[in-house]
Amino acid sequence: MTKDYSHETRAIYHAQHSRVAEDERAMSRFIGMFSEEYFGLPKNWFAEKSVMDAGCGSTAKVLIALHRMGATNIHGFDLDTDFIPTAESSLARHDVPLDKVTICSASVLDIPYDDASFDFVCCHGVLLHLNSDEEARKGFSELARITKPGGYLYTVFGISGGALEESVYPALRAHYKANPAFKAFIDNVKPSDFHALVDLIAAGFQEHEGVSADLSSLKDMLDTDLCVTMQNVLQAPVRLDIPEATIRNMYGADFDDPTRLRRYVKRANIRRYLAPLHYATADNSTLQLWYGSGNLEFIARKKDRP
Ligand SMILES: C[S@@+](CC[C@H](N)C(=O)[O-])C[C@H]1O[C@@H](n2cnc3c(N)ncnc32)[C@H](O)[C@@H]1O
Repeated sequence: MTKDYSHETRAIYHAQHSRVAEDERAMSRFIGMFSEEYFGLPKNWFAEKSVMDAGCGSTAKVLIALHRMGATNIHGFDLDTDFIPTAESSLARHDVPLDKVTICSASVLDIPYDDASFDFVCCHGVLLHLNSDEEARKGFSELARITKPGGYLYTVFGISGGALEESVYPALRAHYKANPAFKAFIDNVKPSDFHALVDLIAAGFQEHEGVSADLSSLKDMLDTDLCVTMQNVLQAPVRLDIPEATIRNMYGADFDDPTRLRRYVKRANIRRYLAPLHYATADNSTLQLWYGSGNLEFIARKKDRP
């Protein structure tokens, strides 16, 4: 029988999301990423719509974005109940009235809503953290079930293939599991850990080259958001590699052809220099060697009932 890592996954993400929820720079970057234009939907499409964020996490960032886009009947769920107070205070901090949002504890494998309940269903970075490919398929079919005919299902899966996902990150993940000191470093990593290294670089320039360098802009790029990204890459116990063809197949005959969305994330940290490269994977074979598929992110309209 497959081991169940779901509650461990939730606890790890609760710690990460609690940091992100306090980091206004990261929150506004995430929230600002979503718009009707991004999804290829007409302006004001979300007005009065019923929407679901499945596996909404403790930041509730997508729920905040959905509220800002005008959705009025807003729902989200994640595993266990620990995320609820953090999610509610994040909503309140971003001026989302709590009576507009229903959050509950549930699994994407058994969503406690009727068929065809929502005009828009989001599942952002969740299915790749389930225990097996079979669970990912089951979760997807639950998402499809609760989407209304004529509504949209938006899913984000992460990267498939490439040197980083196939070799570099698995080696670092193995080291994270095997080496307690490295694990403790990652679990507690903070900007000042890297700022201390930047000070060493400046001291080295001074000593070996006689140069007095101002590296404060480099420090600014080594921020909390980058630390959480490192944790995101290394801590999750499961990260399934789900190829684009499998995802298209999961949407299946009930949906129009899914549109692949390509994300240009406006980061303030060092990943600002990597974001354009992620965005360009479609047309560049060098980037495909490193980043494989690039981020796999799709939206598709569920066909009207015949
Ligand atoms: C990478 S986080 C993404 C969270 C959120 N969607 C976001 O974008 O901020 C993965 C999330 O999947 C949730 N998750 C894992 N297994 C789940 C399951 N069976 N049902 C619902 N959520 C699950 C975790 O608890 C975690 O919050």
